[in-house]
Amino acid sequence: MTAKLIDGKAVATDLRTQIASSIKALTEAGARPPGLAVILVGNDPASEVYVRNKRLACEQAGFLSKPYQLAQNTSAESLLQLIDELNADETIDGILVQFPLPDHIPQNLVTERISPNKDVDGFHPYNVGRLAQRQPLLRPCTPRGVMALLDQTGESVRGRHAVVVGASNIVGRPMALELLLAGATTTVCHRFTNDLAHHVGQGDIVVAAVGKPGLVNGEWIKPGAIVIDVGISRSETGKLVGDVGFASAYERAAWITPVPGGVGPMTVAMLLQNTLDAYRLRQNA
Ligand code: GUN
Repeated sequence: MTAKLIDGKAVATDLRTQIASSIKALTEAGARPPGLAVILVGNDPASEVYVRNKRLACEQAGFLSKPYQLAQNTSAESLLQLIDELNADETIDGILVQFPLPDHIPQNLVTERISPNKDVDGFHPYNVGRLAQRQPLLRPCTPRGVMALLDQTGESVRGRHAVVVGASNIVGRPMALELLLAGATTTVCHRFTNDLAHHVGQGDIVVAAVGKPGLVNGEWIKPGAIVIDVGISRSETGKLVGDVGFASAYERAAWITPVPGGVGPMTVAMLLQNTLDAYRLRQNA
């Protein structure tokens, strides 16, 4: 068997086109566009690329974009003050602070300062709690994008065994909550897991989200599984690679995401969707 590729780039492009036409209809009817503030602290090169992509996507869709580039030595107090101002800004529906932050700024203080109704990353404990209690409101972008890709395969998630590799706050944990909500029997593997190969081999759906090339050996994949690779790292030869050994997984899986062109574009598309959702939630509040 060889796998079918899940074309995240195409799914994301469709979604972005749909969002852009909703915004066009809104603004032509005289409404203001949704507004997104994206804050980058410091100059981590990977974060700079991610933030630029988010800003460009936002502008292309017809959103109001407010980018902020703050110096590496910005104090926690001034970042929190900027968040307070954006929380009170009526033209802004979404606030995103790109992670990782410099070590002197506690991530949780920042996450908890953003108004839950402008939390387009879905990282605030209120939004995580809503997802955990089966009442999702604003959901983390990458896991939401993965659920859209699973939907795209036309295969059912309910009752399948999903194995998530990685337990980060940004991807692994909310991913497990999304899969649980969709009715999958869900296993979460992490740095203390014994016998990762055994657990991965049980997965009808495997979502790898660690950021370590080759962590998941493609030979471990159960024949016919769906493989979603969230990892993206640069190999020694400069190629972008995921967490899963692609060539051997491709021989066994029914469906697999490429890296790049799989999950990555979905994260950006879901950020736009979340910003539009936050706009509508605030309009209806
Ligand atoms: N760093 C890596 N991924 C993300 C993300 O989805 N949101 C934010 N804010 N920072 C990130």
